[in-house]
Amino acid sequence: MMNYKEHTIKVFAPATVANVACGFDVLGFALQAPGDTITITKTDTQVIEIIDIIGANSLSKNPTNNVVGVAVQTLLNELGSKQGLAIRIEKGVKPGSGVGSSAASSAAAVVAANVLLDAGFSNLDLVRFAMEGERLASGTAHADNVAPSIMGGFTLVRSYNPLDVIRLNTPNDLFCAVIHPQIEVKTADSRGVLQEHISLKNAVIQWGNVGGLVAGLFMNDYALIGRSLQDVVAEPLRSKLIPGFDVVKNAAMVAGALGCSISGSGPSIFALCKGKEIAEKCAKAISEVYENIGIPFKVYVSGINQEGAKVI
Ligand code: HSE
Repeated sequence: MMNYKEHTIKVFAPATVANVACGFDVLGFALQAPGDTITITKTDTQVIEIIDIIGANSLSKNPTNNVVGVAVQTLLNELGSKQGLAIRIEKGVKPGSGVGSSAASSAAAVVAANVLLDAGFSNLDLVRFAMEGERLASGTAHADNVAPSIMGGFTLVRSYNPLDVIRLNTPNDLFCAVIHPQIEVKTADSRGVLQEHISLKNAVIQWGNVGGLVAGLFMNDYALIGRSLQDVVAEPLRSKLIPGFDVVKNAAMVAGALGCSISGSGPSIFALCKGKEIAEKCAKAISEVYENIGIPFKVYVSGINQEGAKVI
């Protein structure tokens, strides 16, 4: 497994689907692909340098303005270390896609630094460090992408203060179709359309569904998972930012999805399915929607990644 030399380490961390319909800012799961790869090498400089970014032109190499630099610096500060590090970023997850692009980079980076420096931080600590990358990227230090990218599977952020993250069960036959229409929706904008207050009626629906989804995952009850994949808080407001959302959702449900909603802050849309065959059918059906609308897209079918970030 660990083919890195003494001074260098390479870590892959997966893309993630945050919110999972009902769990705004608290639920997420990891995809098998795509993902980001981070290589970190020790240097004598006492500073963090981002030496290369492959696969994304828009990202800054200034470590104070890049999620990777910020997340790793947070780890170094807590460790009390001034170790110089040279970091190479390979983006497999397109920024602004809604499948946790910044989170995959931050997650891979803190896992890499933890192993390279033999720092011994727990997964919960690493989530906390990677959240600082999310703060830079979107203005809010949410953990629903970084937690599953680091820990794998489905995760629930039970509490932010204090941070409490729970790894949930994944039914064996759960698959996901994700479609990424090639339009940009910035997380900050997508958070901007949300309302500060929700009605008690909607709160009751939402927390019923969060409980139902968590129970469904542990009980391997696909029908319960399907019934619980409902979002009355974010989706009604955010779906307006995604052309064709209602048609895509309808096509996914007709193709047999358990449920379909916005992935993270969008524009990607995910459909959870029982079995790979149905996920592939869904992927085909939702692809046809964007072909007809004339918006370029990328589509993925993936199982749920159980490993999370890993040394490669
Ligand atoms: N929970 C976050 C949101 C995920 O929906 O804004 C986006 O990264």
